[in-house]
Amino acid sequence: MTTKSISISWTEYNSIEELNQDDKELIVAAKEAAQNAYAPYSKFMVGAAVKLETGIIVRGANVENAAFPSGICAERSVLSYSASNYPSDKPIAIAIAAFTEDGLTKNPVPPCGNCRQVIAEEEFRNKKNIRVILSGESKIQIIEKGGDLLPLQFNRNNLKINPL
Ligand code: THU
Repeated sequence: MTTKSISISWTEYNSIEELNQDDKELIVAAKEAAQNAYAPYSKFMVGAAVKLETGIIVRGANVENAAFPSGICAERSVLSYSASNYPSDKPIAIAIAAFTEDGLTKNPVPPCGNCRQVIAEEEFRNKKNIRVILSGESKIQIIEKGGDLLPLQFNRNNLKINPL
């Protein structure tokens, strides 16, 4: 019998002023993206901005639906957009910011399990880490590799009888 463990690390900042220009810019784009959220049910407006390898920034927001499970999170919204419109330009970072009716959340909002799976797949297929930048009013967290947020993740190898 063996017991195994996984640990993850991330960096925390107390102010956006401590970040480099690229990260600040991506957070601003995520905040802008949240303004286009369609969230009449939860009133939780999430924006996500992805930076591609060539420097292009694309934006996405959550889009809810009266049939609740048909809604989509901001992270999957923007990653579907980048994969569809820039198939050869790899995502290298994603920033996420969320607003309630009281404004930007105090704490960073982490991606849900579904979105972690999608971030991990993008990293897997592009062989490129995606920096995840979670931006709250009083705290910013940066995880260098999005897949770290989903330990023991299901991936393409699990679909094969003889994994690679
Ligand atoms: N949501 C996101 O867009 N991203 C997250 O990381 C967490 C949740 C959305 C889904 C739903 O529209 C609303 O926030 C409330 O869960």
